[in-house]
This record gives sequence, structure tokens and C-alpha cells, in this order.
Amino acid sequence: MRLRPLERSDLNDRYQSWLNDPEVTRYTETGTFPSTAEDLENYYRGVTGSKNDVILAVEEKKSGEHVGNVKLGPIHWVHRTAIFGILIGEKDSWGKGIGLEATRLMVEYGFTRLNLHRIDLGVFAEHESAVRCYKKIGFKVEGRLREDLFQGGQYKDRLWMGLLRSEYKPLRAGKRK
Ligand SMILES: CC(C)(COP(=O)(O)OP(=O)(O)OC[C@H]1O[C@@H](n2cnc3c(N)ncnc32)[C@H](O)[C@@H]1OP(=O)(O)O)[C@@H](O)C(=O)NCCC(=O)NCCS
Repeated sequence: MRLRPLERSDLNDRYQSWLNDPEVTRYTETGTFPSTAEDLENYYRGVTGSKNDVILAVEEKKSGEHVGNVKLGPIHWVHRTAIFGILIGEKDSWGKGIGLEATRLMVEYGFTRLNLHRIDLGVFAEHESAVRCYKKIGFKVEGRLREDLFQGGQYKDRLWMGLLRSEYKPLRAGKRK
């Protein structure tokens, strides 16, 4: 996979369908309300027009297909922190290591190019693939917010995870897929 800028031409029906697919949005806060083409356009304009957010498209290398996005934001330029988010919307692309690789690349970009000191994220405690992915990269569970999220008729715990720049081990050149 590779990361590239998210373009206006990416805002198509396929991308919009991810946001309205309960399976894709099950563990995100995106799916709570229906998402229209106008919502997507407004979101795109908001994040690409802000210096406190970086959003990148995740593209499959062979097909060149846009399969999801990664985001750092809001970025706090004094504390040098940012919140990480990921959405791999193409379900056929799940479980192939794309989420792990995209997270790794975005974290590396955050530390080495944006000069961040710390990256944070929140995740449903029961979201196994996401938690595994973040732990593999080095994120540590720093807190458990009990019954912080309402989903599927139940309150669920949220894990708060953090990664310091000093803890992150960059990939050596040539080791990347
Ligand atoms: C969560 C998400 C980022 C994971 O990305 P992915 O490409 O599917 O996951 P990967 O293939 O990189 O796998 C990451 C780890 O999870 C494991 N995993 C994958 N699918 C799994 C599943 N269904 N159950 C348990 N573990 C799973 C993998 O084996 C891997 O661990 P390993 O390397 O120790 O074997 C992706 O599925 C996604 O974006 N989902 C929709 C939106 C979302 O939930 N975003 C996250 C919000 S916090």
C-alpha cells in the first residue's frame, strides 16, 4: 500500500458507501448519523483546509484503488500531540496487513516530519484487530474509560492509547513491503 493526498476526485459513491455501511462504521463514531455527499464534501473541505489536521488516502499498490484513509488531528502544535484515526472502508482489504502498514507509515510521518512528541487514539476495547494493530506498533494502553461509548444498544469501554516518539522504533529503509 501507499499513502497519498486525499483528492476531491476520491469523494465518490464508493467512499460515501463506506460511511453508511454499519459493518465498516461499527467501531467508529462516523456511522451514528447518515452521511450524504454534502457531508463528505464539507468534511473534506474542513480537514484539507486545516493546518491542524492531516488526512491521507490509503491506496492499494497493485490496483491503485483507494481503500481508506488515515488521519492525524487535531494536532496541538504547543504540546506536539495529535489524535490518530483510520478507516479502511473496503472490507475486501481487511485482514491483509494494510491497516497495520498504514498506521505505521502515518505514525512515522507524524514523528519524523511533523515533529510530534506523542500520538493518541481512542478505540473500542472489544475491537480486536484495531487494538492488535496499535499494540504491534508500540501504542500502550494508558486508560480504560468504562462505558464511555454507546453502540448496538449497549455501553462499551473505550481504551485510550498513546505512543511517545522515544518509544517508536522506525522501520529501517528497505524493510518496508
Ligand atoms: C481496524 C482496521 C484499521 C484494521 O486494519 P486491517 O488491515 O483490517 O488489519 P491488519 O490486517 O493490519 O491486522 C492487524 C492485526 O489484527 C489482526 N486481525 C485482523 N483481523 C482480525 C479480526 N477480525 N479479529 C481479530 N484480529 C484480527 C491481524 O491478524 C493483525 O494482527 P497480527 O499481525 O498479530 O496477526 C480496519 O479493519 C478498519 O479500518 N476497519 C474499519 C474502521 C475502524 O474500525 N477503524 C478503527 C477505529 S479505532
